[in-house]
Amino acid sequence: MKMNISKILVVAALSAAVAAPAARAAGDDADIQARVAAAKAVTGDFIKQLGGTMKQEMKAGGPTAAMKVCRDKAPEIANRISLEKGWKVTRVGTRVRNPMLGMPDAWEQDVLREFEKRAAQGEAYKTMSYFEVVEEPAGRSLRYMKAIGVAPQCLACHGSAEQIAGPVRNELNALYPHDRAVGYKPGDLRGAVSIKQPLDN
Ligand code: HEC
Repeated sequence: MKMNISKILVVAALSAAVAAPAARAAGDDADIQARVAAAKAVTGDFIKQLGGTMKQEMKAGGPTAAMKVCRDKAPEIANRISLEKGWKVTRVGTRVRNPMLGMPDAWEQDVLREFEKRAAQGEAYKTMSYFEVVEEPAGRSLRYMKAIGVAPQCLACHGSAEQIAGPVRNELNALYPHDRAVGYKPGDLRGAVSIKQPLDN
């Protein structure tokens, strides 16, 4: 019996020694910093691209034409990045228009609430983000969220009833019968880009 236990201990010690460098590589400080920087860069591009295309489309064809930017382009870009990087990239809302894509999970809801608290203390959404290494039964992941504030150009589709033109309202009603992403004001928190990078493969 004693032999067996010491054997197990030796094996455990050996496998710990072998496993340690690998475990440290994915998830040590430098690795996390690099991952956060990568998430930041990707998110910044994503938001800039969306904002730019939205402005163009609004000018060219008004809100009914611009609808496809928030509806098709945003999930399209998020999917492309997800495939390219092997991450899960989504857009979540404080109130949600498309529950299939935009619903925050429990962790994301907590972070959105923290973002609103930080804003109440004077921090701007433009530069606000948060990251954390999260452990789940499926393994560890680095989670990152970048806040998205409401800009005046968002109100044509996320503002008050008076700010959303009739044809836009009709289309939104037809596409999103459970739309809750209205009634926002400039400076509100609209949601976030959320990124999940698996650390253990
Ligand atoms: C022309 C209409 C339109 C404008 C303008 C618009 N959106 Fe949207 N937005 C939509 C639609 C439609 C959806 C649903 C997308 C989907 O089906 O996934 C949406 C969804 C979202 C979501 C995902 C969460 C959810 O509620 O489903 C976020 C975040 C968002 N919009 C942010 C913004 C921001 C920020 C702006 C301003 C820069 C903006 N939108 C401007 C139409 C618009």
